[in-house]
Amino acid sequence: MTQATRIKITDVSKIYQTETKTVEAVKNFSESVKDGEFVCVVGASGCGKTTLLWCLSGLHPATSGTVHIDGELLTKPLPDRIGMVFQDSNLLPWRTLIENIELPFQIKKKPVNRELVDELLEVAGLKGFENSYPGELSGGMKQRGSIVRALAQDPEVLLMDEPFGALDAFTREEMNLFLLKIWERTRKTIVFVTHSISEAIFLADRVWVMSPRPGRLSRIVDVEFARPRHIDLQFEPKFIEILKSIREDVEGSKSGKGN
Ligand SMILES: Nc1ncnc2c1ncn2[C@@H]1O[C@H](COP(=O)(O)OP(=O)(O)OP(=O)(O)O)[C@@H](O)[C@H]1O
Ligand SMILES: [Mg+2]
Repeated sequence: MTQATRIKITDVSKIYQTETKTVEAVKNFSESVKDGEFVCVVGASGCGKTTLLWCLSGLHPATSGTVHIDGELLTKPLPDRIGMVFQDSNLLPWRTLIENIELPFQIKKKPVNRELVDELLEVAGLKGFENSYPGELSGGMKQRGSIVRALAQDPEVLLMDEPFGALDAFTREEMNLFLLKIWERTRKTIVFVTHSISEAIFLADRVWVMSPRPGRLSRIVDVEFARPRHIDLQFEPKFIEILKSIREDVEGSKSGKGN
């Protein structure tokens, strides 16, 4: 069975022009993401991962090149079709969890999809916390809440930028398992940016490795471990072999070029 192409990136470059300098952040990036695929993007800090993700969101257009979503040229944000999750959960502190989750529906003047919200809260282990304020939730719970908020809109594509970067290692592992569970159920197309190579391998169908600035796609690694994946996978020799090889790429290119 061949899957349809969900995201097509063609020769995308992004140049930032500030008062004092010009930064070439992403250069000639071309790749596609299939429907239901889980892609992780890794690379040294400052290599353009976040910039690439913003280009895919339609919020910050590329300087040149194109992005197509389901064959349609992306020219503006598509809040019904593309969801975003960031390192900070961005929950409004004066609204309860459920009020935060309902906010995008209110903004769009759409009825709340109760059934979906309930199912997502259940999978996220947040049942019973609907009326808690973000300040009363742990970091992991807040991040799960922000993922529920994004998925409740039932987007086709989920763009995630270091969503678990601020969490401790143990919570992060739990979040990875949660995300895989929810992805296996919903089969959204996910592009997930992370600093952690092991997180990328654990989650992804494919890992895109970016070179240092200007960020180019330097390598694509197919991750063929069976699903559902167990957290102990990270101790298997094959996993460690892939980890080492990607790390060599990222670190080698860092020292070779000077960032
Ligand atoms: N709004 C901006 N204006 C000017 N330069 C920017 C802007 N945003 C990012 N840059 C520059 O573009 C380059 C890529 O930044 P980007 O945030 O995409 O990197 P990153 O790979 O996400 O890094 P990190 O892993 O640290 O989050 C950096 O050199 C950064 O300084
Ligand atoms: Mg970033």
